[in-house]
Amino acid sequence: MSKDHFELKAESYDSDANRVGNVDNIANSILSSIPFNKNMHIMDFGSGTGLLLERVAPFVKKITAVDVSEAMTKQLSEKIKNLDCEVEILQLDLTKTKLDIKFDCIISSMTMHHIKDIQSMFNDFYTMLNDNGVLAIADLDIEDGTFHTEDTGVFHFGFDRKEFQDKAINAGFKDVKIITASIDEKPHGKFPIFLLTGNK
Ligand SMILES: C[S@@+](CC[C@H](N)C(=O)[O-])C[C@H]1O[C@@H](n2cnc3c(N)ncnc32)[C@H](O)[C@@H]1O
Repeated sequence: MSKDHFELKAESYDSDANRVGNVDNIANSILSSIPFNKNMHIMDFGSGTGLLLERVAPFVKKITAVDVSEAMTKQLSEKIKNLDCEVEILQLDLTKTKLDIKFDCIISSMTMHHIKDIQSMFNDFYTMLNDNGVLAIADLDIEDGTFHTEDTGVFHFGFDRKEFQDKAINAGFKDVKIITASIDEKPHGKFPIFLLTGNK
């Protein structure tokens, strides 16, 4: 079995006010960009402890939370009874498992930098969306490698927005836009976070 990179972080993950503030900003950007409704079944990719999905839950019918980390999904599983929509948890590595489910929207926060092959992931997102489905992915702009203090399985020190956008377009997404969703202010520097949206 592969290493759970979040094993030691999961329990205290939500006690970092800075992190919670950033995910709040990302959630607000997603909620302003996507017209959710109570018929929608969405996926949160790399759902972690559920910081993002708990903000979106009141506006959709069902969320499929996909995360490879046992420790992070354990934290999420303790929250879901209090959430305002149906939540299904799938603990799996989405780079290795093909889901035979179609979603109306895929959301994700701070997970893509843990994925080696970005083009392949965008291609899979496209396949997993219903026609007219929407993608909303937040992650770091290019950084100097100091964002993470521990090894949590990072493949990318952030992304160049244009290159990231081009990969979504190559996968087939239309109306692909990128905005700034948050700026993570750490003691040693500022780390902007973008939100990419696109339509199938
Ligand atoms: C930095 S955390 C972000 C958690 C949450 N989205 C948030 O913003 O608070 C990244 C999450 O992505 C998950 N993850 C990384 N690679 C994954 C993969 N290949 N398949 C599924 N989940 C993955 C990790 O286990 C971790 O919980």
